[in-house]
Amino acid sequence: MACYRSSVPSRPATQHPLFARFFERVGARNEQRGQAGLRAELLAGLRGLVLEVGAGNGLNFPHYPVEVDEVLVVEPEPYLRERAGLAAERVAVRIAVFAGTADALPVANASVDVVVCSGVLCSVPDVPAALAEFRRVLRPAGEFRFYEHVRAGSRVRAAEQLVLNTVWPRLMGGCQLRRRTGAAIEAAGFTVRSSRELIFPAGAKFSPVAPRILGAARSG
Ligand SMILES: C[S@@+](CC[C@H](N)C(=O)[O-])C[C@H]1O[C@@H](n2cnc3c(N)ncnc32)[C@H](O)[C@@H]1O
Repeated sequence: MACYRSSVPSRPATQHPLFARFFERVGARNEQRGQAGLRAELLAGLRGLVLEVGAGNGLNFPHYPVEVDEVLVVEPEPYLRERAGLAAERVAVRIAVFAGTADALPVANASVDVVVCSGVLCSVPDVPAALAEFRRVLRPAGEFRFYEHVRAGSRVRAAEQLVLNTVWPRLMGGCQLRRRTGAAIEAAGFTVRSSRELIFPAGAKFSPVAPRILGAARSG
């Protein structure tokens, strides 16, 4: 791809072999519990050149519309990157998988139409740096589609997250439970065009990653 800059080697901090295998198992179960529909909603109507950051093992891939020209994928975790490569071979849309991290994307300035992120901004070490990178690589008026778990609105759930966050990041590949990701997206200069709050799985009584947002923002 003309917009591809160079490969950035995976850093030790983004190698999570145990979490990667755990995520692969849990992720498959979640798809059947309704997450596949949320992924379809996340990606509905996309076209052009898409960059998906932190694609994991590629659970979004079957949901890209055929109007998409190509999806560039940047995934730092080696095991998940390999799985993403295999998943890419099973879908109609052209997908190319690269190593790299959200805060140093191997992609040229103003080169992609859309950036997609699901379940990633909880784990990146520096959210503002990642969002600044997304804006850098997006073409003018490019779109950012996000689906992320966030800090709970209710006091009880927020307290649960506070307690669990003492150990959760160490077990779950650096995932933080208490991020105000919607506010961070706006603070980074994106114009949020739609963002809906949801609980996944629907009706979950206790899950620290249940409160989520799903939406779209413009880069300018
Ligand atoms: C919970 S998984 C979500 C995977 C996938 N996006 C999905 O929706 O199924 C979190 C993903 O973020 C990736 N990740 C963690 N830190 C990252 C970083 N600094 N830059 C890019 N991706 C990162 C992980 O390797 C992993 O693939």
